[in-house]
Amino acid sequence: MTSKFIPIQYVDDKLLLLDQRKLPLEEIFIQYTTLEGGHDGIRDMVVRGAPCIGFTAIFSLALWLKDRQYQLSEFENACDYLNAARPTAVNLAYEIGQVKKIVKKAKDNNEDAYSAVVNYGHEQIALSETQNRSMARFAEKDLDALLNKKKYNILTHCNTGFLACGSIGTALGVVQNLFEENKLEMTWVDETRPYLQGSRLTAYELSKLGAPHQVVVEGAASYLMSQGKVDAIFTGADRIAANGDTANKVGTSNLAIIAKHYGIPFYIVAPSSTFDMSLKSGDEIDIELRDPLEILEYKGLRIAPENSTAFNPSFDITRGGLIEGIINENGIAKGHYISSLRDIIQ
Ligand code: MRU
Repeated sequence: MTSKFIPIQYVDDKLLLLDQRKLPLEEIFIQYTTLEGGHDGIRDMVVRGAPCIGFTAIFSLALWLKDRQYQLSEFENACDYLNAARPTAVNLAYEIGQVKKIVKKAKDNNEDAYSAVVNYGHEQIALSETQNRSMARFAEKDLDALLNKKKYNILTHCNTGFLACGSIGTALGVVQNLFEENKLEMTWVDETRPYLQGSRLTAYELSKLGAPHQVVVEGAASYLMSQGKVDAIFTGADRIAANGDTANKVGTSNLAIIAKHYGIPFYIVAPSSTFDMSLKSGDEIDIELRDPLEILEYKGLRIAPENSTAFNPSFDITRGGLIEGIINENGIAKGHYISSLRDIIQ
């Protein structure tokens, strides 16, 4: 029996992904039995969101390992192929790196690498629940210390809930926790063009929770903030550099800049697997460029003139100096991120 609330499942040696392109109108799972299938599921955004991309990578490599005799060099090639599916979310490379270690160890000890990798995938999804809960509590504590309100109006961008994380989520985990504590006044859900992660996915998750929310176009952010309708902004991340510069869904940096203008705290919430301390700054992060048709068409219907072209960067970089706090499962980093991030990365 397929649970509708777990977007990634590995059952009977097969990978099942909830097709997020069809939400919220249809809840359909696609079944994958090959590495190539998993790669395409990530590339085509059947599954998306940094943590879930990482979990899908683990199970995709398991599919490759299943019933196979191989040299480590062939496995490395499979890893490189998978790693090229999407460039920005470092969780993909992180989990591939973890699986490489597991496979090498299993080979050295003449053990079954396939089961070890499948078990690791299940463990990582289970661990994300504990980690997300812990991030949510750090966020709540900081909000209370900073603003000390009974209830909060939170603005969020893109989708960072269970569809992106496999559990309550990062930024949306903060929202869920506030809701459960009866401390959530309103969630402003950025529509998030062009893939509509906000209006299709975040609103779907908040509806399922029964939590208060309203969808807004991204262009409404300044107006909302000027009217005192936003207490704080929480978003997730796809890659965080050592100086706190953060890659997240395009439009995130606009929010942080406007928030600075109005004196509203802007937070990033992400697990340790999203930090890339090998990068000095966000300038080194590879920003994915997606198909212009995602902007020029909607569900196959042309919505721009036939001779117009489009430029479709999928992410942008929010500078560390605009961020009130960066939260992971170990705590919250503030101020000078080159040193403060080291305290929460163990
Ligand atoms: O292109 P997507 O939908 O994979 O982009 C997702 C985001 O930008 C999320 O905000 C990010 O991955 C954090 S998910 C917890």
